[in-house]
Amino acid sequence: MLLKGGLLATNAVKSLMKPASMRFTATASNVKTAILMLNMGGPQHTDQVHEYLLRIMTDRDMIQLPVQSQLGPWIAQRRTPEVQKKYKEIGGGSPILKWTDLQGELMCKELDRISPETAPHKHYVGFRYVNPLTEDTLVQIEKEAPERVVLFSQYPQYSCATSGSSFNSIFAHYQQHSLPKNTRFSVIDRWSTHPLLIKTFADRIREELKKFGETKRNDVVILFTAHSLPLKAVNRGDPYPSEVGASVHLVMQELGKSNPYTLAWQSKVGPLPWLAPATDDTIRAYVKQGRKNFILVPIAFVNEHIETLHELDIEYCDELAKEVGVEEIRRAAAPNDHPLFIKALSSIVAEHLNDKQTVNPKFLMRCPMCVNPRCRDSKDWYRQVCA
Ligand code: FES
Repeated sequence: MLLKGGLLATNAVKSLMKPASMRFTATASNVKTAILMLNMGGPQHTDQVHEYLLRIMTDRDMIQLPVQSQLGPWIAQRRTPEVQKKYKEIGGGSPILKWTDLQGELMCKELDRISPETAPHKHYVGFRYVNPLTEDTLVQIEKEAPERVVLFSQYPQYSCATSGSSFNSIFAHYQQHSLPKNTRFSVIDRWSTHPLLIKTFADRIREELKKFGETKRNDVVILFTAHSLPLKAVNRGDPYPSEVGASVHLVMQELGKSNPYTLAWQSKVGPLPWLAPATDDTIRAYVKQGRKNFILVPIAFVNEHIETLHELDIEYCDELAKEVGVEEIRRAAAPNDHPLFIKALSSIVAEHLNDKQTVNPKFLMRCPMCVNPRCRDSKDWYRQVCA
């Protein structure tokens, strides 16, 4: 029943085993353009799970809890064994660092080729909740003194809980440190509709569609799935749901609207209302309506991690599918090292480096109902820094 699209053991991943000095075109002393790839990260070993959860549960951009300084650590402690078990079931840790490093390496190689005037380029990884932490990587970048730093969110669709939290953490870092002299900063905050990102997702779906028998191929439900968000955040005006919807719409247009499709939301935690319908409820409901063949498409994740490898592959494609009587279910791989995706990353950065606009005006605007003073101060800071 379980048919996964996640492919980890590629030659490209094996190339990560090469020593770091051989992986980069740029060396510490001659970096012209630094590209800081921002993401939440994931524990590489189960002994990092507690610290990872603690950072999430105490991040008020990500989650707001009553008496957070006490409740956050308590929830982190309580959830650690259950989350550790999940990481054990996917091989002991998150592959997100390996994928991001590989994507960065390939992106910079391509950038050196297509944008020699801004070369050498070097990628850096800045995670929000686990090593390499964004604030530590910023210190490393400062030492290497590039001419330019591009802060590149690896969340294609912008949410204040994810991308916003990463950008706010950079602002927080520079409240404690002075900005490096002679380095220009700029921001790539969202790219949910970039044509090459859309083509990548469409190709990932085609790869899986081909594996269905011809008689049912056109009836397969393409079920796009993205991490859910508390309704409180949606009602503040968080742009994430509409940006996810835009990606879905364009991917289906790219596929010539070949199949029935829908969008559902996964990974809800806690008792408060979140964006619905949930991905598992959607599979259950469609099976009841007589639709029994699916491709799950993680539309908001650019590389494999726990939500794809455990929640989608194990909990839904295997356990739930058996329970509710799904006929065939497959999961489209995340973009990972798809050549079109590497082109997407390098084109997005090259277009940005060529653009006079160093920051998107939308990024400088707060959600209409935002009451977080950190967002206000952070946006003011970016307005000046990226001027
Ligand atoms: Fe969106 Fe503050 S919550 S800008």
